[in-house]
Amino acid sequence: MPPTDPPNLPPSVQEERAKYGEEKPKAKDTARLIWASKPRKEPNPKDLEFQTAEEVYPNVADIRDRKLSAYATNGRKIAESPNRLIWGDNLLVMQALLAQGYAGQIDLIYIDPPFNTGENFNFNNEVKIGDATYEKELPINERLAYTDTWSRGLDSFLDMMHPRLQIMRRLLSENGSIYVHCDWHISHHLRLILDEIFGQENFLNEIVWKRRGGTTSPDAKVFPRITDTILLYSKSKNFLLRPQFYKDPYDPYLNRFNRDDGDGRKYNLIPLNASQPRPSLIYEYKGYKPPKYGWSVSPERMKALDDAGLLYFPESKEQRINKKSYLDEWPGQPVTSLWTDIKLVNPMAEERLDFPTQKPERLLERIANTSSSEGDLIADFFCGSGTTGAVAERLGRRWILSDISKTAVQVTRSRLVNQNSNPFVLENLGNYQRQLIYAKEVNLKQMYAIILKLYGAVLRPDMQGFGISREDKSTLVYVCEPDRAMTAKKAIDLARLARSMDGKGYRNLVILAWDYDYDFDDAYKKMAKNKEKELSDTEFKIIPSDVYKYLRSTKLGDPELAKKITFYQKPYIRISEPEIKRLDGNTFGVKVRIEQFVVMDLPLKDESKRPEIEKCLAKNFAYLIDYWTVDWDYNGDVFRSEWQAIRDRRGDQPVPVVAEKTLEKGKRYTIAVRVVDVFGNDAAGTKEIDLR
Ligand SMILES: C[S@@+](CC[C@H](N)C(=O)[O-])C[C@H]1O[C@@H](n2cnc3c(N)ncnc32)[C@H](O)[C@@H]1O
Repeated sequence: MPPTDPPNLPPSVQEERAKYGEEKPKAKDTARLIWASKPRKEPNPKDLEFQTAEEVYPNVADIRDRKLSAYATNGRKIAESPNRLIWGDNLLVMQALLAQGYAGQIDLIYIDPPFNTGENFNFNNEVKIGDATYEKELPINERLAYTDTWSRGLDSFLDMMHPRLQIMRRLLSENGSIYVHCDWHISHHLRLILDEIFGQENFLNEIVWKRRGGTTSPDAKVFPRITDTILLYSKSKNFLLRPQFYKDPYDPYLNRFNRDDGDGRKYNLIPLNASQPRPSLIYEYKGYKPPKYGWSVSPERMKALDDAGLLYFPESKEQRINKKSYLDEWPGQPVTSLWTDIKLVNPMAEERLDFPTQKPERLLERIANTSSSEGDLIADFFCGSGTTGAVAERLGRRWILSDISKTAVQVTRSRLVNQNSNPFVLENLGNYQRQLIYAKEVNLKQMYAIILKLYGAVLRPDMQGFGISREDKSTLVYVCEPDRAMTAKKAIDLARLARSMDGKGYRNLVILAWDYDYDFDDAYKKMAKNKEKELSDTEFKIIPSDVYKYLRSTKLGDPELAKKITFYQKPYIRISEPEIKRLDGNTFGVKVRIEQFVVMDLPLKDESKRPEIEKCLAKNFAYLIDYWTVDWDYNGDVFRSEWQAIRDRRGDQPVPVVAEKTLEKGKRYTIAVRVVDVFGNDAAGTKEIDLR
């Protein structure tokens, strides 16, 4: 049976043509945007589980002064519904939020989707390692997302935006509003699809933001483009819009504040004349005659203003009384739909993070102040460097941020930590590959076969996920399931199985996993101790995100697949044995140090630069670290980031590699350490100490 379409779908292009093409019956407000691949179904909620990568308890004192001295967490607790920074494709993220009951819960959404056409995505692909800057390769999920977004030009961009805007509407609260930041390339298209999704009647403003001043040249072909467009829609008629004001030091209006009463307070005179006839307000006050239409205030109000010293009485009783408006109480000019007073983030600004599309905090402050109140929930699903979160945090709003780019999430996390924000959670929907598999619904069986082939192994049809190396028949290869991290226990079981499999056993086992458990290295070492004879020699490798390219497009029989991509060893950190010093009867000073951090996967645009980087890292591996964090009392489940070290903005200094903390006597502690490098690789390890 052919699938039937759910009711109330927008008609296809063909149906539209059939309907309006020839006859064009006259109707009202039918105009809207159609394109060949316009999605016909609204996306559904998706019951995907978020994984908590970290609970982050920012701890700035340590980082700023670099003393790395013992430091307590301030006792700040994670809120019951905490602020969330989510790494993932925002379509999946929003579908999962809907499934978690977020429909109608968000009061304000700001988005600034990437809207450059063509290949020019303006992403910051540069990493600084030591004194040099290198260009890195974007991870496959980001590359795919961007090519998916623009592969068919505008059509694919609209395909991307349409379902996302539909979900955003569902997530907005009845009083909520959405600000969609764009520019001349696509503002006219977005305006039409926003009209369709939110309703023309809920269109509030087209805000024109003058980003910069313009320069031009005699051979210019267009006027310099110096503005962005921010489209503002509400969900219903009951939206919040708090008028805003701004002050410009060059505003000629300021010249009007030219009087003072000798106390230095400058003021301006505001007439108190009614603008239309007000018979009830025609009265004489202190001998001053009323204006023709009467005063604009009642006699009581006039008296109150007088008592407050706010009236100006001209010498001649024939003239009118005015109200004094003091410069120091003047709120400024009302903000209109033309915003000229907010400048781009300048290169020297404190807030600058070298994120190419970073928007100024003042812009978000204005938006948050206009359309949200303290305690409201604000979301930005294309959060980039996290400007919306930084502002929401400062203004006492709750927030949800998401971004598909790991770098963006890293920048945002560091920004919030540096601003000493309230504790928040960092979440994801699993690794890149898992998200892509969810998004595209890849067949798992084929996936195992393709990965084994890519590695250079021959699939064993009798056992799912197993293969044998083409080059070395004594090496068994195992591909881990995409939806879980490899644990030490599972790896030991596999190594034991490999040793005895097929009667003869296999000398070597290679495990290809998407992710490894937090304490994988230590736990494996511990479990494998003195069992060399029972276990095959095992190597642990990471399935690189590039496999996804092949998962999408490769025919299974392709013999060319082998060795197309490199499977690197998993990143590895070595942590020192903690140094423990008794401080008093009840406390100990505990110090941990990262002794080594090894990453094989350096995704560089120009591979020939690798030796140069390796040389620099041989001198100091810490140049590679972007962020590292410690949970001093890891519970084996959620990583509580209580101590953080972050590379400074310029990136020319390596991070310190020692962390220190005072711990109470009386229990065993598992100290967990997590390191994230400038390419987004991460590694973790644990150490146990006994303070009983
Ligand atoms: C123009 S930037 C946002 C900049 C941000 N307003 C700021 O102030 O830093 C757009 C962001 O959207 C992200 N993005 C693009 N496609 C996405 C998707 N499908 N899901 C989540 N984030 C996405 C990009 O990674 C990029 O960081």
